[in-house]
Amino acid sequence: MADKYSKKVAVEQFGKRSNAYAACGTLMDQTDLDTVVGLLDLKGNETVLDVATGTGYLAMALAPHVKRVIGIDITPRMLELAVQAAGERGLGNIENLVGDVEHLPFYDSQFDVVSARFSFHHFPGPLVSLSEMARVLRPGGRLVIEDMVSSEDATKSEYQNTMENLRDPSHIRHYRASELEQMMQEAGLEIVDRGGGGSDFDLDHWLEMADPPAGSVERIRGMMRDSMEGDRSGLNVRVEEGRVVFTYATAIVVGRKV
Ligand SMILES: C[S@@+](CC[C@H](N)C(=O)[O-])C[C@H]1O[C@@H](n2cnc3c(N)ncnc32)[C@H](O)[C@@H]1O
Repeated sequence: MADKYSKKVAVEQFGKRSNAYAACGTLMDQTDLDTVVGLLDLKGNETVLDVATGTGYLAMALAPHVKRVIGIDITPRMLELAVQAAGERGLGNIENLVGDVEHLPFYDSQFDVVSARFSFHHFPGPLVSLSEMARVLRPGGRLVIEDMVSSEDATKSEYQNTMENLRDPSHIRHYRASELEQMMQEAGLEIVDRGGGGSDFDLDHWLEMADPPAGSVERIRGMMRDSMEGDRSGLNVRVEEGRVVFTYATAIVVGRKV
């Protein structure tokens, strides 16, 4: 029941904020997209499933390097923008469909590559989602997950996730990188590569993107301020040129289906 509620909230949240996500600098960062594509060592004949494809930035980065990309997402409005963007770029080998990562409408072992970028923290059932993504991968195929991760320090991780939940009710959890890898292994994947780095955010812009209620904005601002002393959130919150900024740590993990 809780899962159903979280998914409904995700559809509402992304439906409402789809244009902001389509314009998000982190999602369209070409260096980051090139890194993910580079880690996959593609040959050109792959069929790829891009889970939670959103407005399609990773799908569009993958498309010129593979035979076919299928993008799936739970929010129809995000997919409308993905279809439009792929059309504008003349990419004819991307198909998009509405669906839930926990119930992928595909046969076992159908894909050479499965990807999920900046979305894993929205999935109410992380293990079910990973098992589903692993199920549709052929043996030897690769799953790449890129996501924001929290500090390995449990207290800082809780602090960060509390702020995230206040900002975006569809947020489930930013995992520690070690947790993410462990869950992938539990889903039958052998970790074969990893990358990642950091992404700077301006607090005002970050709040604007999700548009939380005024009461939550006030609490988040307070928590961000308090976090500056002793880096309580693990986000290195600081003031630069009069603006509050922070850095998300991101992890890219590639697993091979055993
Ligand atoms: C930040 S966007 C993804 C960005 C995209 N992967 C990219 O690289 O541009 C997160 C997406 O996760 C999708 N999502 C959330 N929960 C989902 C679920 N259970 N199944 C499928 N998609 C989901 C949302 O609809 C949203 O479009």
